[in-house]
Amino acid sequence: MLTRRALVLRQELLDRTRFSVAREQQGLGGKNEKLLLEDGSGGRWLFKVIDAHRPLSLYGEVAASALSVAADGRVPPVHSITLRINGQAVLGSIQRLSPITSTLEGVPPEKLSGSQLEQVLELQVFDWMAGDHDTKGQNKGVLPDGQLVNFDKTQFWRFGGTDRLDWLYHPNARPGNRAEFNDQIEPYANKVWKAWIAGKLELEPAAISRAVGRWELLEDELLRELAQGFAWVRSVLMPSPMHLSAGELLERLLARKRALRAEFAALLARASQARGVPRVSLAPAEPGLRDRQVQRLRRLVARLQAEAEALAPPPASRAMGEEELSVPMDDEARLRVLKFKSSDEPIERALADLRALLEARRHPMARAGVAEYIERLRRFGRGQVRREELEHVVHGRGY
Ligand SMILES: Nc1ncnc2c1ncn2[C@@H]1O[C@H](COP(=O)(O)OP(=O)(O)O)[C@@H](O)[C@H]1O
Ligand SMILES: [Mg+2]
Repeated sequence: MLTRRALVLRQELLDRTRFSVAREQQGLGGKNEKLLLEDGSGGRWLFKVIDAHRPLSLYGEVAASALSVAADGRVPPVHSITLRINGQAVLGSIQRLSPITSTLEGVPPEKLSGSQLEQVLELQVFDWMAGDHDTKGQNKGVLPDGQLVNFDKTQFWRFGGTDRLDWLYHPNARPGNRAEFNDQIEPYANKVWKAWIAGKLELEPAAISRAVGRWELLEDELLRELAQGFAWVRSVLMPSPMHLSAGELLERLLARKRALRAEFAALLARASQARGVPRVSLAPAEPGLRDRQVQRLRRLVARLQAEAEALAPPPASRAMGEEELSVPMDDEARLRVLKFKSSDEPIERALADLRALLEARRHPMARAGVAEYIERLRRFGRGQVRREELEHVVHGRGY
């Protein structure tokens, strides 16, 4: 209940926010093109342009962010949005810019505090559940109080099903890359386990147990609900041999959750052996975990509610992202956004995608995916499609 409430409030807050393009465009790195935006109170947002031909990463980010509300609250809230930039529709994900002071990129694990090492382990539990292995130091932010933030879930379940929980598993490494580059993009938790095996630092397995315990508290039904938009879109977009029906993917996620404690216990046992110490075991989750989870969610909901009350409701006529954003001609960011393919043929592409979505029509959550396309068509379609028609097709026939 609290998780659902928090997600609804997050969406309401976003719907009430108006964006403009930030004057300063700092480069954050990463593969996707980015644009920094500002809201009316000077808050800064990161808009990540998503290739509309390959929107899966967007749904992965959104799903991971929703799952994180329920599990650990360490992934920033991420939403999908279509913005109109210099007259063009650009699909992307949007999130607040976290006030981080640094990331873990280039930081040797021995330099981390005990609490940060615990957090790395907790984030590893999340990332394993999400089947995300793009978990390099650059994707782990450090807040001024030392707390870690878990960024960039665009690779949600990218290797899921064929992946392994192992400090040597590094699927994004390529033999052709420079060794330093492979090292830079190595999952940060792998570095931590290697350092532990080498006796360079100490780890607190209770942190793993806690993180696992939080997933164990998450009901199957809620996990399904939070991941099914992604599962459904993936089932439509991902060809074989990686294809899975939405139901199959959800079953695999649930299976991963059920095996979570055993898998981490096995990891710990193997690492103990590699370090040459007696087997370190994983204690059962501490009592009181459920209460602490409920308290965390209550605080989150209260904070979101207060934020929503402080913001004026949106004008009834306004749809999210409707305002025209203009990026100055001489700004390099404009060129980056405009050269992007997602702006070229939004209507044709959206129609093709919609057809695919409709053909597959299997799951009620298809609405979440289809609604985004309908919104794009409504706003940017030049009369080729009537919204009523699409809505009738989608909502009237079995979705
Ligand atoms: N919400 C955010 N707040 C602050 N920094 C962020 C945020 N999201 C990402 N970053 C930083 O920017 C980098 C690039 O963003 P990321 O989401 O990883 O993009 P990409 O999908 O292109 O790799 C991240 O590695 C992280 O260091
Ligand atoms: Mg990244």
